Amino acid sequence: MMMLCNYVTMWDYTDKVKDAFLHPRNVGEIKDADAVGEVGSIVCGDALKLYLKIDKESGRIIDAKFQTFGCASAIASSSALTEMVKGKTLDEALTVTNQDIAAFLGGLPDQKMHCSVLGREALEAAITNFRGEPIQKKEEGRVVCKCFDVTEEKIRRVAMENHLTTVEEITNFTKAGGGCGECVPSIEAILQDIWSLKPVEKPLKPKKLTNLHKIALIQEIIETEIRPGLQADNGDVELIDIEGSKVIIALRGMCTGCMMADVTVKGIQSKLQELVSDDIVVEALQ
Ligand code: FES
Repeated sequence: MMMLCNYVTMWDYTDKVKDAFLHPRNVGEIKDADAVGEVGSIVCGDALKLYLKIDKESGRIIDAKFQTFGCASAIASSSALTEMVKGKTLDEALTVTNQDIAAFLGGLPDQKMHCSVLGREALEAAITNFRGEPIQKKEEGRVVCKCFDVTEEKIRRVAMENHLTTVEEITNFTKAGGGCGECVPSIEAILQDIWSLKPVEKPLKPKKLTNLHKIALIQEIIETEIRPGLQADNGDVELIDIEGSKVIIALRGMCTGCMMADVTVKGIQSKLQELVSDDIVVEALQ
């Protein structure tokens, strides 16, 4: 069911996305899977079936495989998801968000974020299936986008989880609005309803930072947002120095000499630019 295509050359993919697309991990079916989550539809362009094998004693996911029909990002996102959830308990796995899947890949093009959403949905569906919980038809309800079969419920959920405020962003994350366009006014109305009731909670960068604040913020983000992800892959990073906007780091553990070291450094830089200041440049000591 996995469909390979040439799209890898058409988008500005990170090396990690290209690698996960060209050499996807954990492709296939687990015949005696304990949990299966199936989401999307071939008619709408993307479909993903996720299989989990769960150790009954520890409650940990000991194997994860996938079959997908989709483009490079769908394959890369599915591959990333299986790598991320292996070894986790179900509750730990449920903390993996679609942003985490995209971050694991060093980012996805905006227009492809819906692939990371599909991965998160498959994970939720599989765990719901394993727990024998009634499949909550969360996405039941009014279909807003008939072209891509997207409900109002899904648009609201994805908008709030990802702080989306424009129709274009909704299209990137759900595909809704990306066809005939008939549903665009309805999407606009939903967004207006969400964000007029609840202020947008986009992470705000502090406006003007003193040097001391900047250093403290960089240290905090490295500790809380960056190191845990690297440590999960047996890597690590050490903050060596901060000179103005230049942040000097040293990669440690599995990150040392890793083929993807450049991608890791770029990912750290993007995170710091996003959360601290646009002018941050990260350099890694060799
Ligand atoms: S109905 Fe949504 S794009 Fe056509």
